[in-house]
Amino acid sequence: MTETTAPLRALMPALAGKTYFNYGGQGPLPSPSLEAILHTWQAIQELGPFASAVAPLLASTVEGLRQRLAHWLGVSPRRLSFTENVSSGCLLPLWGLPWQPGDELLIADAEHPGVVAGLQELARRHDLRLVNLPVQGLRGGEERTEAAVLAALEQGLTPRTRLVVLSHLLWNTGQLMPIAAVAERLAAHPRHPWLLVDGAQSFGSLPVAAAASAADVYACTGHKWCCGPEGLGVVALSERVLATARPTLIGWRSLADESRGDGRFHQDGRRFEVATSCTPLFAGLDRSLALLEAEGSPEQRLERIRHRSGMLWHGLGQIPGVRPLLEVPPPAGLVSFTLAGEAPEALVRRLGERALWLRSLPEPSCLRACTHITTTAEEVERLLSELRQS
Ligand SMILES: Cc1ncc(COP(=O)(O)O)c(C=O)c1O
Repeated sequence: MTETTAPLRALMPALAGKTYFNYGGQGPLPSPSLEAILHTWQAIQELGPFASAVAPLLASTVEGLRQRLAHWLGVSPRRLSFTENVSSGCLLPLWGLPWQPGDELLIADAEHPGVVAGLQELARRHDLRLVNLPVQGLRGGEERTEAAVLAALEQGLTPRTRLVVLSHLLWNTGQLMPIAAVAERLAAHPRHPWLLVDGAQSFGSLPVAAAASAADVYACTGHKWCCGPEGLGVVALSERVLATARPTLIGWRSLADESRGDGRFHQDGRRFEVATSCTPLFAGLDRSLALLEAEGSPEQRLERIRHRSGMLWHGLGQIPGVRPLLEVPPPAGLVSFTLAGEAPEALVRRLGERALWLRSLPEPSCLRACTHITTTAEEVERLLSELRQS
């Protein structure tokens, strides 16, 4: 494969003077996206802020982004709800579903603590049972992983299973989960359990349309791999969730007619939207997505991400005392590894002082470096060289 560095990189002031591997935490905002935010904010002030002259701008900004996201997620725009972040996208629709005491939630052991805490509270209030789906220990290639996930699913499913929770790309080990195959298996279960997918690490890093259109709830944020602003996310909902789930956190945007509190809600994804939010952020995310599109198809971008993560994975395996978590090159851009002799948190602090940013993870205790299309071969080499000297 030819060596290319994204033109996008030159548009990210945050990357100047740093070696950055924290895309899974937050992606840098390109200057054109910041300009789109500022421009929209200014236009709102000039036309309004609260005046009918501004309404077309607000509507076209929000609905334009909804259309683009629908294309990315492979669903019709009516299946999308805007949210603030991944966690609210995962949890808000669940509160509206018709639970019965004793229903079981089959939750992967690699889910994010914030989402797990929300599921625990849901279980406490509705008298549901939490069941563990073990996937965190999987370290092999795609085929072996898919077979192991489906076997674990088979073990965990019971006649009472009502929901399965599984991230698309595990935030800790970097493994890819076979979401479409899991959805297919659940469709054959007598109760057809709902499938909640946390897309925090997949959306913007790999093609997601097949998984997002197969899941019941596929939650994303704009501020990680999409390199959009923080504070704006989206969730794709299945038609059956839209038909079954009551709105949860309700405000004027949930209403079919916003001038009437008559209990008639939007029939589409807007029933989970709440009230006033920051429209300029929509313009910023739209610009970031357009910039990513200009870098190639989702498949082409993933290939570039994998090229860098593969370089890093191979290099890590050759350093004494360093061990990549996965036994094979990573399926996407998350590269987790352990290091003998120094606590992960201490290494993160020490390298941060040298403007090299990666993160530590608690479970399993390890380090995580993310490669995006903007990652250069020099950055990978610099990290490897720091680790060789550790
Ligand atoms: C897998 C996963 N889920 C959820 C979150 C929380 O994201 P947000 O703050 O957008 O809700 C993160 C953040 O790192 C994550 O990696």
